[in-house]
Amino acid sequence: MTDSPFPVELIRSAPKAELHVHLEGSVGAETLLALAAAHGVEPPAQTVEGIHNWYSFRDFPDFLERYFFVCRLLKRKEDFQRIAYDYLRTAHRQGAVHVEFHISSSYHTQEVGLDWSVVLEGAVAGCEQAEKACGISSLLIPDLSPHLGSASAHATLDVVLAQLHPRVVALGMGGPSDRWWDEDFASAFDRARAAGLRTVCHAGEHGPAKEVRHAIENFGAERIQHGIAAMDDPAVVDLLLARAIPCDVCPASNFALKAVDDLASHPLPQMVEAGLTVTLGSDDPPLFHTDLLNEYRIAWEHGQLREPVLLKMAEHSITESFATPEAKKRWLAVDFTQPNWEI
Ligand code: ADE
Ligand code: ZN
Repeated sequence: MTDSPFPVELIRSAPKAELHVHLEGSVGAETLLALAAAHGVEPPAQTVEGIHNWYSFRDFPDFLERYFFVCRLLKRKEDFQRIAYDYLRTAHRQGAVHVEFHISSSYHTQEVGLDWSVVLEGAVAGCEQAEKACGISSLLIPDLSPHLGSASAHATLDVVLAQLHPRVVALGMGGPSDRWWDEDFASAFDRARAAGLRTVCHAGEHGPAKEVRHAIENFGAERIQHGIAAMDDPAVVDLLLARAIPCDVCPASNFALKAVDDLASHPLPQMVEAGLTVTLGSDDPPLFHTDLLNEYRIAWEHGQLREPVLLKMAEHSITESFATPEAKKRWLAVDFTQPNWEI
């Protein structure tokens, strides 16, 4: 821990993109209770404080169980619209100019049986509403769930590709990697690329560095979500460097899910030191009792990273995003020392 105060206003005022946040993981306690009431579902606790306490996890499987409980509370277009809009307003207050939402598309369409159009139209409506209200830009990344198998991945792609929307910019994947090794997910990423989507993948979060290599070499991932285990294998670090692939790192998530023992031992400073391109994200912010600015605060307080490094990560979040070159240029040109700059 450092005693010097985190320069919160400087970091808030710097234009930032958030490239690693799950739409369903943005559901706060109040919204969870409202969704449960609307759908006649017994919530896991009756009060906001109770839900806050329920947002704590023994390990990754325990987290996924609760995360999927939250997913199952999202049933209507208006549910997805509401959470997308709410999160974008929150992110905008923290100086985000652009957000790329991961959406658990396999879970909604294959496990729950929701129409993808419900999810997509709701999320798009929330993005449009927020853009009108405050100018924030946003894109969508449907995620495959590899624990459901490769047939389910292709079935997910069938519905995603049948209804491509300009805001759907990439295909992603998140969740346990157990089935990566004996099943073919590469062909799903190939199909996505053939349809014009970019490709990203969670890797090296709970699993070893070889996940990062596999995500790059087999899935063609252009960005890695987390990637912290790469630091255990210099050859994988070299691969990330050689291909200029960024890692979208979420320290509070890694601590909450026990991927690291404590924040002081999080490898973020070593990743920066190794020359990796790093962006910061909040992953599932209310579930991990964090937000985008808090991730920068952690980098300052526990990683001892200072203003130039934090501002460089903010800049990387913009340059590595899938926004248009024109939008990136506009955001990077902002003089954020001027109060009340507008996007
Ligand atoms: N889905 C939501 N949060 C996730 C995480 N931290 N890792 C993998 N998949 C996720
Ligand atoms: Zn994630």
